[in-house]
Amino acid sequence: MHGVLQRVNQLMSVTLTVLAVLVCLCALSSALLKFDDVPSVVKTNRLRLMNVADFTTDSRPKDLGAITFDLKVNFSQVFNWNVKQLFVYVTAEYETETNALNQVVIWDKVILNGDNPIIDMENVSSEYYFFDDGNGLVSNKNLSLYLSWNMVPNAGPLTDHSAPDRCRFKFPDKYHSSRQ
Ligand SMILES: *[C@@H]1O[C@H](CO)[C@@H](O)[C@H](O)[C@H]1NC(C)=O
Ligand SMILES: *[C@@H]1O[C@H](CO)[C@@H](O)[C@H](O)[C@H]1NC(C)=O
Ligand SMILES: *[C@@H]1O[C@H](CO)[C@@H](O)[C@H](O)[C@H]1NC(C)=O
Repeated sequence: MHGVLQRVNQLMSVTLTVLAVLVCLCALSSALLKFDDVPSVVKTNRLRLMNVADFTTDSRPKDLGAITFDLKVNFSQVFNWNVKQLFVYVTAEYETETNALNQVVIWDKVILNGDNPIIDMENVSSEYYFFDDGNGLVSNKNLSLYLSWNMVPNAGPLTDHSAPDRCRFKFPDKYHSSRQ
């Protein structure tokens, strides 16, 4: 009886060690791969700028951007057996007098391993409100739009990546009248 339990115990610890080593190797192998250099195209189409009262905060009028964009990317090279899913998102980034760096996520999508790794879409509308916390969008001539993704692995740390390609865009000096 005693002998059998000891065998089982031994077997268990060997199995666990092997598993642990495998998990480490798996995490290491994918850590060595390069994932940042994924070519992408993000291009703004329609840009509309409004000035609306934001009642969720203090109801002072704030700048609200409504944009549509084209998005093309091929994530085939990123998927391997240690990638469970990608959390893909598009960020608008700009500078204002009050903040050196403003980042607003306007769209996101989850791509599971096994899903189509290619995104090829035109005129995508922003899913989330692109609100500035003041009037930092009107006449702003230097904004950029770019694609990022969180890589969720089966083993190892979650990593964050951004595509090198950015689309620069500007907002007009006047607000869009909703009657047009
Ligand atoms: C996507 O990328 C993979 C590997 O990088 C390539 O084999 C495939 O042809 C690409 N697909 C398209 C539609 O560009
Ligand atoms: C996207 O919008 C542009 C004009 O803003 C239009 O010319 C084009 O046909 C649209 N594409 C699609 C697929 O709807
Ligand atoms: C636009 O902003 C980026 C940072 O987002 C900065 O690197 C670049 O120099 C700016 N360009 C101009 C013309 O101000």
